[in-house]
Amino acid sequence: MDLSIIIPTYNEAENLAPMLAQVFQVLRDNDIRGEVIVVDDDSPDRTWELAQALVVRYKGLRVIRRQGERGLATAVLAGLKAASSEKFLVMDADLSHPPELIPKLYQALDKADISVASRNVKGGGVRGWPLSRKAISWGATTIAKLLTDVKDPMSGFFALRKDVVDGVELDPTGYKILLEVLVRGRYERVEEIPFVFEDRKTGTSKMSSGIITKYVSHAWSLLKVARTTRAQLARFLMVGGLGILVNLAVLWALVDLASWNYLPAAALSFVAAVTFNFAGNRAFAFRDESRGAGRVASQYAKFFAVSAGSLVVNLAALFVLVDAAHLWYILGQVIAIVAATACNFAGNKLWTFRPAPTVQKVPSVRATALRAMIMGHFHGYEGNRAR
Ligand code: GDD
Ligand code: MN
Repeated sequence: MDLSIIIPTYNEAENLAPMLAQVFQVLRDNDIRGEVIVVDDDSPDRTWELAQALVVRYKGLRVIRRQGERGLATAVLAGLKAASSEKFLVMDADLSHPPELIPKLYQALDKADISVASRNVKGGGVRGWPLSRKAISWGATTIAKLLTDVKDPMSGFFALRKDVVDGVELDPTGYKILLEVLVRGRYERVEEIPFVFEDRKTGTSKMSSGIITKYVSHAWSLLKVARTTRAQLARFLMVGGLGILVNLAVLWALVDLASWNYLPAAALSFVAAVTFNFAGNRAFAFRDESRGAGRVASQYAKFFAVSAGSLVVNLAALFVLVDAAHLWYILGQVIAIVAATACNFAGNKLWTFRPAPTVQKVPSVRATALRAMIMGHFHGYEGNRAR
């Protein structure tokens, strides 16, 4: 088996038969040995029944009828779990996704880990969508730009190698299964292939305002884990914003409650904010999972140095802008803050939280213990020592 094609359906009785005819024709014409898995959520129009009736006509057609569960993304996931080949492809049932593109998406997996039928690369586009739907799509894609470099992460037409998602915990809500895969999956290369999305001719879209709300909360949960520099920067700025509040709260407590002089109080509140920012950036912005008191202490020292250095950058930039360029000091400070924040982010990304050089895959404790037992020794933890 070369390829498993997953087609989620909900009330697609009118579209399914012509759709399957085209898909199997394309597979035959291109000598692709494939299975097609229709995942239907117990459609009221009995799409599942129609699909089951077509099983005798198409060798390789399988039908999953889910009862008591609804949702495009989870339906796709159910299909992926049931798939039996090493390569998967996902497409809609309503003929918006041209089956002629299947071979291209499939062949792209020779070099790429994921291939995406993309509306947002040269030659791609949308036909027949009202302006409102285009606007929603644009908004969703803009948010997604924080999360991935792929131009059309909203596409419902894509293919991937099994190992991209094997063992990866996916948590799909709403519609955007590809985005979920792009943020959480394990892959190196993505290829985008242009295509023109044709609006469906029959039946209705299941897109609704509920789907949009779900998307926003989905995007937020992905923003917490996304690996792009843009996502790191967004998280870094959130931590920094909270750090300002920490700074002000400590300053206020020392001056107002403890009657300190405001200058030493400001020095201590700087230290408090830096410490808060360090913890927040390590855990949240850069998601550094390295362990060990020594490593954390050295990171803290670096973070402190970068913060102090950024303060110097801030003051130096302010001085130059006001004294030499004669800018209004408020405007000067705005520019200086931006410059200092950029230095702070770059310094911490490239130095403080630079990932430790990748070591060879460290054997699991269990594997190491097993090996130790076989060898008849008891220094089983050797293998986990950093190299
Ligand atoms: N099993 C199952 N359960 N299938 C569903 C469900 C569900 O709850 N909701 C929708 N589907 C199926 C539809 O029957 C169709 O085959 C496919 O999923 C896409 O649903 P549509 O309702 O036609 O979505 P759309 O055309 O508005 O959106 C498409 O284009 C978007 C691009 O902006 C989808 O491909 C989206 O994934 C894509 O983001
Ligand atoms: Mn559609």
